[in-house]
Amino acid sequence: MKPSVILKPNAGRKLRNFYPWAFHDDIADIQGDPEPGAIVLVRDSSGAMIGQAFYNPGASIPIRMLTRGEERLDAGWFRRRLMEAAARRREIRETNAVRLVHGEADNLPGLIVDRYGEVLVVQIRNMGMERWRESIVEALRELFAPRGIYERSDVEAREDEGLEPRTGLLWGEAPDPVEVLEDGLVFETSVVRGQKTGFYLDQRDNRRRLRGWVRPGDQVLDVYGYIGPFALHAAAAGATAVVIDKDPWALGQVERNALRNGLADRVTVRLGDALEMMGALLAEGRRFDWVVLDPPAMVKRRVEWERGVRRRFVEMARLALGLLKDGGGLFFSSCAYWIRLEDLMEAVRLAASDVGCRLRVRDVTYQPLDHPWILQIPETLYLKTLIVEKQSANGSDFVRPRKADLPWG
Ligand SMILES: C[S@@+](CC[C@H](N)C(=O)[O-])C[C@H]1O[C@@H](n2cnc3c(N)ncnc32)[C@H](O)[C@@H]1O
Repeated sequence: MKPSVILKPNAGRKLRNFYPWAFHDDIADIQGDPEPGAIVLVRDSSGAMIGQAFYNPGASIPIRMLTRGEERLDAGWFRRRLMEAAARRREIRETNAVRLVHGEADNLPGLIVDRYGEVLVVQIRNMGMERWRESIVEALRELFAPRGIYERSDVEAREDEGLEPRTGLLWGEAPDPVEVLEDGLVFETSVVRGQKTGFYLDQRDNRRRLRGWVRPGDQVLDVYGYIGPFALHAAAAGATAVVIDKDPWALGQVERNALRNGLADRVTVRLGDALEMMGALLAEGRRFDWVVLDPPAMVKRRVEWERGVRRRFVEMARLALGLLKDGGGLFFSSCAYWIRLEDLMEAVRLAASDVGCRLRVRDVTYQPLDHPWILQIPETLYLKTLIVEKQSANGSDFVRPRKADLPWG
C-alpha cells in the first residue's frame, strides 16, 4: 500500500481542478511515512483519491501531482507522457530546436527536455523526477534516437529540493557547439557553456514577428541579446543591428553567428550593463527603428518587483523610448511569472510620460506552443511581450507619410 497525503478541503478542490502543487499548509495528514522523492497517493479531506504525486517534505512544494487516479507509474508511463508532449509540438516548423517537455505544463513536473537537432538537453528540477533519470534517458533514446543526451540541471530550484547542481553527458556524445536552425539562419551555441540549456527557444515567434516587420535599412537595437538571434533575424531582413549583453561569451557567439550567416557587416556588439550601454548610445545621439528589450527574470518573489525592479523596468523603457525614432517599435518582454502584463504596460506608460510620446499597442504576445500555458496553473504563463509603436510628439504614426505606406495602393 502506497503512503497517502490527505489534503485540507480547499487544497483538495484546487488539485481536483488540475492545479499541480500542494504546499505544507495544504496538508492535513501524512500516512505511511513516505521518504523524500517517493510517490504518494493524494486524497481529499474525505479520503477520496485525487491521484498520485511526488513527495518531498524538505521542499517548499512538498506535493507535485503526476496522475489523476491510480494508474501504474513505471518507465512505460514516463515514455507515454514524453510521446504526448512531443506530439503536442508537431506544428512547430522551420527549426530543428524545440522544447519537447515543459515540466508541469506537460504533466511531467520538474522535467525540461530541449531538442537541438540531434542533441537532447535534459533538466531535472526536483527530487521525485531525479529518481526517474534512467527511465527518462532510456525513453528519449528509444523515441528520438538522438546522437547524445546532455544534462543541464544547474538551476537554483534544485537547492530548495535538497539537490546539488548536476551537469554532464548522460548518453552518447554531445557535439560542442551545436547548431540551431531557425528560419534559414544557423546559430552556433553550446549546451555545455551556454545559458540555460543553450538557446532561448521561447522567443522564436517574436523573432519571426520582428523579421516580418523590419524593412531594409532599419536600425535595430537588441538589448539583452544573448547570442543575437533577434539581431540576426533583423539583419537577414536587411536591417543593421547592435547587440548589447553583459556575457562576453554570448557576444563572441553573436560575431561568429553573424559571420556564419554572411551578416557580419550588419551586426555589431556592445559588452556591458544594458542600462549603461543604452545611456551611452543615447548620449552618442544614436536612434533606432526597433528596440528589443528581453531582460532576464530579475524577480523571484513579488516583493522584488515592488522593491526596485519596477523602477528598473521604467528606466529601461525610458531609455528604449528615448532611443527610438518616431514611428519606431519596441518589443518589451518579461520572462518572470511575478511580472504581469499590466506591470509591463504600467512601466512603459510611466516611461512614455517622461519621454513625451504617444504609444500605439501593436501586439501583445505570450510564450509559443512548445512552452504550454495551462489555464489552471497560473505559474505556467511566464513570458509576456508588449509591442508598441512610438508615435511622434503630435500623436501621428509617421513623421512623413509616404504613398508607399498606403494599403491597396
Ligand atoms: C532572456 S536572455 C535574452 C535572450 C535573447 N533575447 C534571445 O532571443 O536569445 C537575457 C540576457 O540578458 C543578459 N543580461 C543579464 N543582465 C544583464 C545586464 N545587466 N546587462 C546586459 N545584459 C544582461 C544575459 O547575459 C542574457 O543573455
